[in-house]
Amino acid sequence: MSAVLEIRDAEVSFNVPGGRIRAVDGVSLTLNEGETLAVVGESGCGKTTLAKAILGLEPLSAGAIEVQGLSVTPDLRGLAKRVGIVWQDPYASLDPRWRIGRSIAEPLIVNGQRLDGRVDEVMRQVGLDLTMKERFPHQLSGGQRQRVAVARALALGPPLVLCDEPTAALDLSIRAQILNLLKDLQSKLSCSYLYISHDLTTVRFIADRVAVMYLGRFVEVGETEKVFAEPRHPYTRALLESSPTLETIGRLPAVLPGEIPDPREVAVGCPFKTRCPNKLEICETVFPDPSEDGGRVFYCHNPVSAPSP
Ligand SMILES: Nc1ncnc2c1ncn2[C@@H]1O[C@H](COP(=O)(O)OP(=O)(O)OP(=O)(O)O)[C@@H](O)[C@H]1O
Ligand SMILES: [Mg+2]
Repeated sequence: MSAVLEIRDAEVSFNVPGGRIRAVDGVSLTLNEGETLAVVGESGCGKTTLAKAILGLEPLSAGAIEVQGLSVTPDLRGLAKRVGIVWQDPYASLDPRWRIGRSIAEPLIVNGQRLDGRVDEVMRQVGLDLTMKERFPHQLSGGQRQRVAVARALALGPPLVLCDEPTAALDLSIRAQILNLLKDLQSKLSCSYLYISHDLTTVRFIADRVAVMYLGRFVEVGETEKVFAEPRHPYTRALLESSPTLETIGRLPAVLPGEIPDPREVAVGCPFKTRCPNKLEICETVFPDPSEDGGRVFYCHNPVSAPSP
């Protein structure tokens, strides 16, 4: 299996009033062909910033990102052919003044590709009736608009597609349709997904592996079923445990116990130390080394115990 996406110690920092924050802090990952990796974590943990860095929209302050072995830099041409993106709000990627057909054709035109029958082909792939071509975004339903956004993302046939909360703005009933569509497309096109979501139910359905992010860092990465069934990091466990009621099922809560620390403060020790029920003295000062457990990696001095075999 070859890697579609390779991230090594990536860091993105921002100057903000009163200091500097590392929105992405030493993130590493490898995404293989045809694989789906979900990134989950509370609001502000750095998920969108990571996606922007992969698209070359946010420069790295350290580390490296490669798509199919090609280094991502802010001025890289040709990245659009390698990476597609579906944002949460399809309005963000669709010009309201353009007919749907033009919106889907635009990435092809900008990248000097022949249109031929490509617009029709990709519309069929995402299940859009060809008569939609003449419509404007506001004349479509939310689900149809998101199908257009997926069509745009796939137009150039990228091996990697980033999905940033692609179903969060949709009704529950439509959500499943879009998820099934993404899954079908993946098996047909064998593209890889980096799937960002708050919705743990969705993640369980679509992702082969999951990366749990906290304050810019990955704290646990592993096979979805394993991580969900036996979380080893206390933060992963807290996320899973805090979604018990019917209304909140599978969704990240607005707040876990304890406060997220001010990201402007220089990070010393474990980022989760201020909220962690398992905290030890060493957590105050030393960032934990990675531990491995059957292919899963987590960063914790005092992890949740593994179930006895
Ligand atoms: N352009 C920017 N300038 C300054 N700070 C920024 C900028 N973009 C993001 N940040 C900060 O970086 C951190 C990570 O933000 P990011 O949008 O990546 O989080 P997120 O995980 O996508 O959150 P959400 O789930 O709400 O979408 C936050 O503290 C945010 O305030
Ligand atoms: Mg975001």
